[in-house]
Amino acid sequence: MTQHPHLLSPGRIGSLALRNRILMCPMGDDQASDDGHVTDQQIAYFETRARGGAALLLVGSVGITAPDGLASPQQSAIADDSYLDGWSRLAQRVHAHGAHVALQLVHNGKNAVNDIVAGRPMLVPSEPKPPGADPLMGMLTAEEAESMGTPAQVKGARVLYRVMTREDIAAIAQRHADAVERAQRAGIDAVELHAGHGYLIDTFLSPTSNFRDDEYGGPVENRARLLVEVLQAIRDRVGRSFPVWCRINAEEYFTQGETLDDAYRVAELAEAAGADALHVSAYADAAYAIGYTEAHATHTPGRFVPYAAALKQRVSLPIITVGRIDPDLAERVLADGQADFVAMGRKLLADPELPNKLAASAAADVRPCMYHYRCISQIFQRSHILCAANPFTGRESSLRLEPAREAKRVLVVGGGPAGMEAARLAALRGHHVTLREAQLRLGGRFALAARTAEPNAQLLAWLVRQVEQLDIDVQLGSEARAEAISPASFDAVLVATGANWDRPSLPGAEQPHVRTVDELASWLDDEQAAAPARVVVVGGDKAGLGLAGVARRRGAVVHVLHESEVFAESVGMVGRWRYVHEAREQGIVLHPSARLLAIDDKRVEYRSAEEGPRTLEARGVWIASGAQPDADLCAALRARGVRAEPIGDCRELRLVEGAMYDAARIATQL
Ligand SMILES: Cc1cc2nc3c(=O)[nH]c(=O)nc-3n(C[C@H](O)[C@H](O)[C@H](O)COP(=O)(O)O)c2cc1C
Repeated sequence: MTQHPHLLSPGRIGSLALRNRILMCPMGDDQASDDGHVTDQQIAYFETRARGGAALLLVGSVGITAPDGLASPQQSAIADDSYLDGWSRLAQRVHAHGAHVALQLVHNGKNAVNDIVAGRPMLVPSEPKPPGADPLMGMLTAEEAESMGTPAQVKGARVLYRVMTREDIAAIAQRHADAVERAQRAGIDAVELHAGHGYLIDTFLSPTSNFRDDEYGGPVENRARLLVEVLQAIRDRVGRSFPVWCRINAEEYFTQGETLDDAYRVAELAEAAGADALHVSAYADAAYAIGYTEAHATHTPGRFVPYAAALKQRVSLPIITVGRIDPDLAERVLADGQADFVAMGRKLLADPELPNKLAASAAADVRPCMYHYRCISQIFQRSHILCAANPFTGRESSLRLEPAREAKRVLVVGGGPAGMEAARLAALRGHHVTLREAQLRLGGRFALAARTAEPNAQLLAWLVRQVEQLDIDVQLGSEARAEAISPASFDAVLVATGANWDRPSLPGAEQPHVRTVDELASWLDDEQAAAPARVVVVGGDKAGLGLAGVARRRGAVVHVLHESEVFAESVGMVGRWRYVHEAREQGIVLHPSARLLAIDDKRVEYRSAEEGPRTLEARGVWIASGAQPDADLCAALRARGVRAEPIGDCRELRLVEGAMYDAARIATQL
């Protein structure tokens, strides 16, 4: 008997019969070719999720025009008949696994970065007001700023707008109808209109971007006119039976924008114009760095469910809800009648097999999302989708887990994420795997990270559980010494010994209140242990912010000194904005471009670009910077002729994401 009977029961949207209630959210994946055509990688990515058991896969943000109106060259499109073949191949491969596929159609409007880069005008309902500026949004590495296509960084780029005429509006409605007709011809099962998240249709819906005084501006009925005309043009073209619905914002945060009352009316109008369902999301003023993690990819579990429930009272259409909804919550939402379908995005990036695992009553085996937002940061950088927790995501066609041709004897040294993931994958391929860990528990330093953030703890628990379930010889408390390993003992040795987090060579660094990450292990483990009254954390990447967060929660006044201007650099921009914001909200004081100079028993001296030379009172000085790959064992093994391969932080410091990728890269080749 499944624990998710409602989630796994069949459902229907218009003429479309679905095998369960789990949809894959529309997620722009930037895996198309440079002119928006479907690629083999994209097909493999969707096929993997079709095989995983979801009922319907939504392809995110498929352009009705190209290259204009798109955010990046690799954004998908269905702008003319040259796109048909690709969509048709993708549909066939999805159908082969019993899933359905829908395209989310979009014109990016004022978010068409392609147009900025090419110096073309972007389509808008009205001349936009100058955007606000959130300084946090500028917390970017130079590489990130350049890849985002910002005019300040790209030669020839210009921000120009074209206020749409009635002819433009009529043409856009027809372009939508053309796209739907094409999708239908390609064997695609349904279409979702993207009428949210600040894209073209939404810029008409929102009073923050629509200042028109004609029949397309003013009251919500007028602002919804473009959406209604698009739906009507589609119905005129393909008739009533092809499933078409729209995704709308139930609310716009941080601004006097769309409200739930607007959404009620938009829903009624969409229903009357022939929509078959309603997908209920939310949006935030794009000027706010945390807008993306407040709204569309919300950091708050279940945040949009109440909107879905409210709209379900107003229209008789099936309602799709979304927004960090885990399977147990999804089950309750459906059982309570708050929505009819649940869309999941990041969870299916982390584990495409989630639906199958629920059906097999194996929810504990679902690989969890870490909420690092690597997936979205990639899209912001106009690069293809990736997942910090799952190295196969976005690499399905090149990184393949296949049975080994011959079973080899594989030794993995180090039981952190790199070691565990490598051991897991090697064992799944049929190799004989020994995993040796010097500590008495698995996890390595990631076990410390797990104390600082619940998603880390979940990923750790998942890795340990997988390793324990497989036929892996796990040897805890077993330090590997190079001289005890001969070239003949193993066919391959994967060294995952991590990094050394030593104290800096500075006056005062040897005092007992100065602690390295490793020396904080027992303090982190003991949830009752108090923090020193005033803590200075040295290093503001994810590890430093995590430690700072624990110290703050345990009552300390916390300052973080960071040598760069960019905190949480390794996480990527969208996750960084979230974690830096949260640190500030907690009252943690962040000092960018700050170099530690000296430590005495009560204070630290530092110099920062903004503040000059300063001192801070400090009863605890915690060192979370200056880590160096621990390459010694690998070098010693190689010197003895052992075929040793470094993976994870002992090769290059890229934390858990790099560890997981390294593990997969090497273990799939053994
Ligand atoms: C990588 C990524 C790309 C996204 N692209 C789109 C998009 O193209 N269209 C859209 O409506 N929403 C997009 N979203 C938002 C998702 O559809 C979804 O609403 C959000 O991720 C919340 O669901 P989740 O918590 O299950 O991930 C994107 C989200 C992610 C993570």
